[in-house]
Amino acid sequence: IGTPNSVYIETHHGFRRYNPMILGQFLEHFHRQVYGGVFEPGSPLADVHGFRLDVIAALRELNVPIVRWPGGCFVSAYHWTHGVGADRQPSYDKAWCVEEPNTFGTDEFVTWCRLIGAEPYLCTNAGTGTPEEMSDWVEYCNLENTGRWARLRQANGYAQPHKVQYWSIGNENYGSWEMGAKTADEWGYFVAESAKMMKHVDPTIKLLAAALPDLEWTLKLLRHAGQYLDYVSIHGYWDPLWQNDQPSDYATCMTRALEPEAAIRMTEHILAVAGFEGRIGIAFDEWNLRGWHHPQGNSPEAITVRNRNDLNATYTMADAVFSAGFLNACLRHSKTVGMANMAPVVNTRGPLFVYPDGVVKRTTFHVLSMYANLLEANVIDTWVSGETLECVGKSVPAVDAVATCDDDMQTWSVALVNRHAERAVSCQIYLGGMPLNGRCSLTVLCGDSPDAYNDLTHPDRVTPIASEVMIECGAITLSPHAVSVIRPRI
Ligand code: AHR
Repeated sequence: IGTPNSVYIETHHGFRRYNPMILGQFLEHFHRQVYGGVFEPGSPLADVHGFRLDVIAALRELNVPIVRWPGGCFVSAYHWTHGVGADRQPSYDKAWCVEEPNTFGTDEFVTWCRLIGAEPYLCTNAGTGTPEEMSDWVEYCNLENTGRWARLRQANGYAQPHKVQYWSIGNENYGSWEMGAKTADEWGYFVAESAKMMKHVDPTIKLLAAALPDLEWTLKLLRHAGQYLDYVSIHGYWDPLWQNDQPSDYATCMTRALEPEAAIRMTEHILAVAGFEGRIGIAFDEWNLRGWHHPQGNSPEAITVRNRNDLNATYTMADAVFSAGFLNACLRHSKTVGMANMAPVVNTRGPLFVYPDGVVKRTTFHVLSMYANLLEANVIDTWVSGETLECVGKSVPAVDAVATCDDDMQTWSVALVNRHAERAVSCQIYLGGMPLNGRCSLTVLCGDSPDAYNDLTHPDRVTPIASEVMIECGAITLSPHAVSVIRPRI
């Protein structure tokens, strides 16, 4: 046990409600996320529509608030009209250079979202698509029966509008890897024109647009289109997966711990400079510790590399500890961060791995479940002081913590992370200046090693363990490489 760490929960400034959409998810037409992931017609585990029931049951445990779809890079050459109605033809997916069957489209996505209890969030094609195509999609989804697209939806068997509230204009359109990438000058103008048309169809929708924690891109976007936007969308993948032919070790993953908050701060700064502080929020609508390896096409080599992203052994307690730190950063910045979507929801690096005959809940699944089920609805200012961890030439705080409470400030819940790989740390918790005392329930996710992971043969090697503890004078010991949630008993 090392030097003491202190967690100060500041009760004088009150609390603020955070947006539960920070526990959102992302589903892309890429590799086995949709087909062979959430959708597998003919599988004994699927319902009559092809939705995997075991996937639905698992995701319900996470109270997933919102899912972004259909991409990702995929969307920048996707035409939504190809994925609705009875006569659907496969098309060529220009992002990933494979065939897209189009059997899972808008209606299936919205139906699936309702089954898991999530809001659908549609990302539009701002690469090869047009503002008009985007606004037609809004019409298809949200108008009752005015116009040919709304009536097409009705003819397709959906009498009532889908009422899709969240729409994003584009995906990473700043990137040379995107179909139809734009310059910063083009982007603001294009977003403004798209937003105008979409809002003329349904003025109640919430709009997002592809942004960056980068002054030039995002200031230009805000100058032209800020008046139409509710959120700017930013993405973050911090650890390049499969460097030197293997995933990064635990210590290297910990060096990334502070990067999400740095991106949030930079984006908040840009919003303030542009005069949109308090008016436009941040949606971290793709995030994951591990970066992507996504070769295109269906050559055996490309498939092998894509399958390698699926390996459960890659996704260890490092992913869990990083993800809890990411969520803590969103909670700390809950004034601006109104949405975050882990990417992707299933397979590759997602929290849930889907086999033909079952699912495996990875370490990150349990973090999401703890945050969804054990935290209260409001966040309260929390300060941590204590030891620093030296990892691979970088210093990061060993402990990270965020406290939450209910509306009466009666029920409390504190999420705590110990980044030490091997060492338990002692921690003093002060609530409103007084050391925390009394009986608490404690839930700990740590597994038996920093490299522990779940897979088919050991699906429960890492699971949260709940116990009752007695806290005296605020003192608690945090297990190594662990995510813990402590809830004082009233
Ligand atoms: O998900 C793989 C890709 O990573 C997404 O399509 C893109 O948005 C991100 O760069």
